[in-house]
Amino acid sequence: MGVSGSGKSTIAQKLAQRLGWTYEDGDRFHPASNVAKMSAGHPLTDEDRWPWLRAIADEIDRVCKAGEHAVIACSALKRAYRDILVHGRNDVRIIYLDGTEPLIAKRLAQRKGHFMPPGLLASQFKTLEPPDASEDAVTVSIDASVDAIVDDIVGQLELSPTNSQPSGRNRS
Ligand SMILES: Nc1ncnc2c1ncn2[C@@H]1O[C@H](COP(=O)(O)OP(=O)(O)OP(=O)(O)O)[C@@H](O)[C@H]1O
Ligand SMILES: [Mg+2]
Repeated sequence: MGVSGSGKSTIAQKLAQRLGWTYEDGDRFHPASNVAKMSAGHPLTDEDRWPWLRAIADEIDRVCKAGEHAVIACSALKRAYRDILVHGRNDVRIIYLDGTEPLIAKRLAQRKGHFMPPGLLASQFKTLEPPDASEDAVTVSIDASVDAIVDDIVGQLELSPTNSQPSGRNRS
């Protein structure tokens, strides 16, 4: 999770590669109506987001049930969004990509092939609810190289080497 430009796609892909897990982009789960709305330049409402988030939660359930592992990039800026994704599961972990607005603005300005509406980053920071202690999220500073960030995440996840299962939270 994190604001636009915090590095979700970049880090999720590298993390999945490192762990031998599947990478998925949360945007893939938008219903056609949301895609049409966004293409027309209209912002999504929370009402638009619920079915999208439920579709990602369904994918998480499918992956878990199949005994697979995945890293999913999803902005998940609000607690209510993350609650839908995690919905009480103890085998889902939130990774929060934490960075300052000036650093992320700089990266977005350099990003190629992406149009960035003016004011979007500021509005993302206004919406952002960083995870609190009860969410047991992994928080990483994005002011580092991609490899160093992935190292940081892997270290904090405390994965067991034998089964790659997260073993940090409410573990039975
Ligand atoms: N640790 C890093 N160091 C330098 N550049 C980075 C780092 N992480 C990401 N970037 C660059 O920053 C830009 C934004 O990253 P990325 O596209 O992964 O963000 P995102 O969170 O997926 O954004 P969006 O929500 O818009 O999809 C990209 O150009 C990426 O190459
Ligand atoms: Mg992305």
